[in-house]
Amino acid sequence: MVCLGNICRSPLAEGIMRQKIEKYKLNALVDSAGTIANHVGQHPDSRSIANGLKHQVDISSLVARQFTKSDFDKFDLIYVMDASNYKNVIGMARNTEDKKKVNLLLNELYPRTDLEVPDPYFGGDEGFEKVYHLLDLACENLAMNLAKH
Ligand code: 4NP
Repeated sequence: MVCLGNICRSPLAEGIMRQKIEKYKLNALVDSAGTIANHVGQHPDSRSIANGLKHQVDISSLVARQFTKSDFDKFDLIYVMDASNYKNVIGMARNTEDKKKVNLLLNELYPRTDLEVPDPYFGGDEGFEKVYHLLDLACENLAMNLAKH
């Protein structure tokens, strides 16, 4: 799960997906990262932590890191939150195999629409609530689809 800072959207996506992996008993690992280094080493934004807790998802212990090329080797599926993250991650791909792993997360909810999880950083709490519901629906679909394979 990849966003810009790895403090708002992608840590919440990681926490939600972790619960879906348990729910569907998937043999899968999930992690998150940001495309910029500004927040590396920080815990998630307090608004994202609070929103997660409201929905029984505890992301308080997660620590931000930056996406690296080695993530293309470690992960089969790389989900980005918006078009800007997509551009950044695709720009780091070494070959077509790497590129094939990258998709917008909301394409798991609304296939082939290329819709974005909006960046809630500069807005209010309602933005985080909207993000939570989009992430929950997309991760539910993703986990259900993975469970079929
Ligand atoms: P995120 O949100 O990409 O969902 O973690 C943001 C975090 C930090 C900044 C922007 C968005 N920033 O400009 O530092």
